[in-house]
Amino acid sequence: MSRRRIAIIGSTGSIGTQALDVISRHPDMFEVELLTANNNAGLLIEQARKFDVNDAVICNEEKYAEVNEALGPGGIKVFAGMQSACDLIAGSNVDLVLVSVIGISGLKPTLAALEAGKAVALANKETLVAAGEIVTGTAARCHAPLIPVDSEHSAIFQCLQGEKSVIEKILLTASGGPFLDSTKEQIANATLGQALRHPRWKMGAKVTIDSASMMNKGFEVIEARWLFGVDPERIEVVVHPESIIHSMVQFADGSVKAQLGSPDMRIPIQYAFSYPQRLYINTERLDFGELKQLTFRKPDLERFPCLALAYEALKKGGNAACVLNAANEMAVGAVLLGKVKFSNIPAIIERTLAETAFAAMPDIESVYAANAEARERASLITNKYSE
Ligand SMILES: NC(=O)c1ccc[n+]([C@@H]2O[C@H](COP(=O)([O-])OP(=O)(O)OC[C@H]3O[C@@H](n4cnc5c(N)ncnc54)[C@H](OP(=O)(O)O)[C@@H]3O)[C@@H](O)[C@H]2O)c1
Repeated sequence: MSRRRIAIIGSTGSIGTQALDVISRHPDMFEVELLTANNNAGLLIEQARKFDVNDAVICNEEKYAEVNEALGPGGIKVFAGMQSACDLIAGSNVDLVLVSVIGISGLKPTLAALEAGKAVALANKETLVAAGEIVTGTAARCHAPLIPVDSEHSAIFQCLQGEKSVIEKILLTASGGPFLDSTKEQIANATLGQALRHPRWKMGAKVTIDSASMMNKGFEVIEARWLFGVDPERIEVVVHPESIIHSMVQFADGSVKAQLGSPDMRIPIQYAFSYPQRLYINTERLDFGELKQLTFRKPDLERFPCLALAYEALKKGGNAACVLNAANEMAVGAVLLGKVKFSNIPAIIERTLAETAFAAMPDIESVYAANAEARERASLITNKYSE
């Protein structure tokens, strides 16, 4: 395999830094062409130097001068704003684009990469939640591979390798997050610190809160619907606290295939980079003698209403999932700033869904319009909860 040229959109985050760790272990397989960050100019400068990239993009334009001063003299071209990253991807010889930013900010670079026929390794699930049909339609039209990075979807993708049969059911596993065994009352009074304490995965703050509310799992149901073309009725969430089985696929003869491994995001990141090959990685190996047992339970939609809201939005279709995502982004942002309680998230989303105009067949402009309207509504609703 010739060296794969990689662009990382969001290199300074949890997924981005783990992706660079994977790349640094296989310099004969991968090289980095382009990195982007939002605010973390210092880390972007360090990464760009270490990987000797061609281009570095700082999305927050106010930090452009700092990055340009540091990298310009060394011959690294520096740009500002996400649009620059989209233009660079379109005109570059990059083979694969990892989209690992948070929220709807992933949509533009994902579409730009797919339109340019680049393979996209997609960590940013919100892109598929907000505009799944448009994104998968663009990938198909442009013959651009869309490879999942989310551990559950990577597991499903791996289970499907070599299969010609249709999927009977997707079994999407969920760790259950920090409130798995908490009562409704305990969740109602949960602090930000408790919500940020995920028992299995070390992730960015936004996705950690999404995991605690189980909106993350709701998003993953929507993501699975678009990546694998499976109706919501055939996507079942299975709570599996040990996080050893990363997801499963059931086929017409009742056989179930699963992908197992230690909970380490470098595995699905590396698989997306090296697909269809597997490469060595120094992750902790499973010791079945030590594991003793794997447990499973049904999700509790009463204690985790965000999961129910996500299923409802998916079934409703149109722009409902886009509104769901926008409302969640605003609510989680307010939780992280300490403005509202963690337990206010579902109510903020529910009210935003009720108050935002529904569009049955949104094109990309109306996706952005619904996103903007929902954010405005959610912001007003959030303010009421913070009073
Ligand atoms: N972390 C995980 O284990 C994990 C697992 C599965 C899926 N995911 C998904 O992967 C995505 C990234 O998650 P993460 O945990 O890596 O997030 P994170 O640690 O918060 O990192 C986010 C990255 O995106 C950049 N960014 C944030 N807002 C931006 C904006 N408005 N415009 C441009 N860039 C922006 C950040 O830049 P600065 O740091 O420079 O500000 C950073 O590089 C999310 O969609 C998440 O749901 C994550």
